[in-house]
Amino acid sequence: MLMYRLVRVECPASSANLGPGFDVFGLALDVAYDAVEVEVVEEASEPTIAEFRIVGRYADKVPQGENNLVYKLALTIMKELGLNLKVRITLDKNVKPRSGLGSSGASAAAITLALTTLAGINLEPTKIVELAAVGEELVTGSRHADNVAPSLLGGFIIIRRYNPLDLVRLDPPDNLGIVLLVPDVPLPEDKTRYARSVLPQQVPLSNVVHNVGHASYVVLGFALKNVKLIAKGIQDGDSIVEPARAKLIPAYEKIRKAAISSGALAVTISGAGPSMIAIYDREELSDRDAENIGKSMLEAIRQEGYEGEYFITRPSKGPKITKIET
Ligand code: HSE
Repeated sequence: MLMYRLVRVECPASSANLGPGFDVFGLALDVAYDAVEVEVVEEASEPTIAEFRIVGRYADKVPQGENNLVYKLALTIMKELGLNLKVRITLDKNVKPRSGLGSSGASAAAITLALTTLAGINLEPTKIVELAAVGEELVTGSRHADNVAPSLLGGFIIIRRYNPLDLVRLDPPDNLGIVLLVPDVPLPEDKTRYARSVLPQQVPLSNVVHNVGHASYVVLGFALKNVKLIAKGIQDGDSIVEPARAKLIPAYEKIRKAAISSGALAVTISGAGPSMIAIYDREELSDRDAENIGKSMLEAIRQEGYEGEYFITRPSKGPKITKIET
């Protein structure tokens, strides 16, 4: 049954929602990857983790040992797949936790893909996403898949429904450029859970109409590989979730204004925040122009007294299997 003795996979960060598509849209980002290496020690009577190490830039920013999502999810998945093995696991943690870049989704995707690859199990996309989404639930308390799906499948994901899960993946246009601002701001302990708790439970019909119209443009833009249409859908496209979360991000309005006046076509909160994602057309702006968008967004948060980092990046094609041994 076991195909390999050792597997290392890297899964990308992601940006969920993209404006109007709360819990529906997700985009894989080439900005950073979480890697998981699983090595089989021996067969066992039940799933066992003999050693669990965390390395990487954010190694000390995530729960350690058996409190880590990768540790918990590894045992859950091994049980689910009937993998009675003793394994060593290393998590290389490079996606910043609690930043709105799908950090837990990238880790959940990486352990899920590492274990299924190790076992030689080739699950269809919805099945593997469902398995990994259990990990998101461990962290956020809700089983949304708009981070794990892009981390596992790459590109742009649309989730049509959750019960049963149904989704589709589209290749983003080559000229879709992305600028991310990752602010260093104080956050509630349970960031995503908190950012979900501030959302309205009921919304006016006019807001639904607004979001559906804009979301349709985002989809159309990805389907036609047209960055301008994607931007039209994202910019001011969410009248439901973003207004409720804006106050959680210092300088939210200033960051938005700075990005647009420096040449970005659209800007919105990345996932549950606090990162902000701006998009631009790589055929129209140079790398230096993109740097200027990033600098202006960073300057806006600095004016509020906070630090941060910006990144110029692109969509990611998806996971990479970087080591495999029989
Ligand atoms: N769609 C989710 C949210 C993504 O906005 O709460 C968070 O990981």
